Amino acid sequence: MQLGWMLVFGPLLVVYHVTAVGLFLNERPESFVLPCKIHESATLKCEVHNHTKDEVLNWYRGNRQVDVSSKNSVNSSHVCVYPLTPEDNGIEFSCVLNRDSAVKVTVTLDVQFSPILGGESYLTTEVGNNVQLTCSVKANPQAEMSWRKNGSIITLVKSRYEQFVTSDIFRLNINKVEETDAGIYSCVAAIINKNGTTTITTREIELVVKGRKDALPVEAIAAAAVVGALIILFAMFARRDKIFSKCMKKQEDTSL
Ligand SMILES: *[C@@H]1O[C@H](CO)[C@@H](O)[C@H](O)[C@H]1NC(C)=O
Ligand SMILES: *[C@@H]1O[C@H](CO)[C@@H](O)[C@H](O)[C@H]1NC(C)=O
Ligand SMILES: *[C@@H]1O[C@H](CO)[C@@H](O)[C@H](O)[C@H]1NC(C)=O
Ligand SMILES: *[C@@H]1O[C@H](CO)[C@@H](O)[C@H](O)[C@H]1NC(C)=O
Repeated sequence: MQLGWMLVFGPLLVVYHVTAVGLFLNERPESFVLPCKIHESATLKCEVHNHTKDEVLNWYRGNRQVDVSSKNSVNSSHVCVYPLTPEDNGIEFSCVLNRDSAVKVTVTLDVQFSPILGGESYLTTEVGNNVQLTCSVKANPQAEMSWRKNGSIITLVKSRYEQFVTSDIFRLNINKVEETDAGIYSCVAAIINKNGTTTITTREIELVVKGRKDALPVEAIAAAAVVGALIILFAMFARRDKIFSKCMKKQEDTSL
């Protein structure tokens, strides 16, 4: 009876005993989000607890393994991400037990930085065209976006304006451009700080509007008409040549 129980639970006890180690990442047993600042560093320290022998730890950045020295991978291991860039924002780093990948803790980097705006800075169009002013936006936390023209806020009430926002693009469409649309446009990103102040980042785009090209003057039309007539005559001659040669060939054919 006792032997039976041991046969049933023995292997389970062994399995339990071997895997009952815990991982702590920056002293935390569960996955978490780590707020950090651009240009600074993020230090990640992983430790095994309740282990009875050497335990090897692996690091992953997303799903790519990170190279660490073998010395820096037994029982405890640390990595340092420096300098932090906007591309590191949202990246997951995982510390994983080498012999059992189910034992792991993940940290997600929350890299904060002031808005980075990009895109063209000069645009030319003609009266009557539709034009798109595009501003690329990278920001964490998200910024409040708006457009200004010659320094004043653009109200979208004016129906020729349309605004489009995605996670990384802020765009102003102006339909049927008029000469008065020319000017300096600013893509404005506003961040409300914890102390209640607002930090503004802007990028300027100059819109140049040219008058519509004038209709062709009469002389030009007349000249074009003459050229057109000559071409038609020329074409008729060419065709006659072809018709003649065909006929001549036919004659030759029949004479043979
Ligand atoms: C380590 O072992 C102790 C005692 O058995 C237990 O209380 C603790 O929860 C274990 N820690 C981990 C991380 O498994
Ligand atoms: C890892 O931990 C085990 C168990 O505590 C210990 O026996 C071993 O010496 C440690 N290895 C290193 C390299 O510290
Ligand atoms: C905006 O500025 C441009 C260039 O300085 C100027 O030509 C244009 O008239 C201004 N438009 C308005 C509406 O103030
Ligand atoms: C408020 O916070 C911002 C950003 O953290 C800082 O640049 C600014 O100096 C602060 N202003 C005051 C009045 O504390």
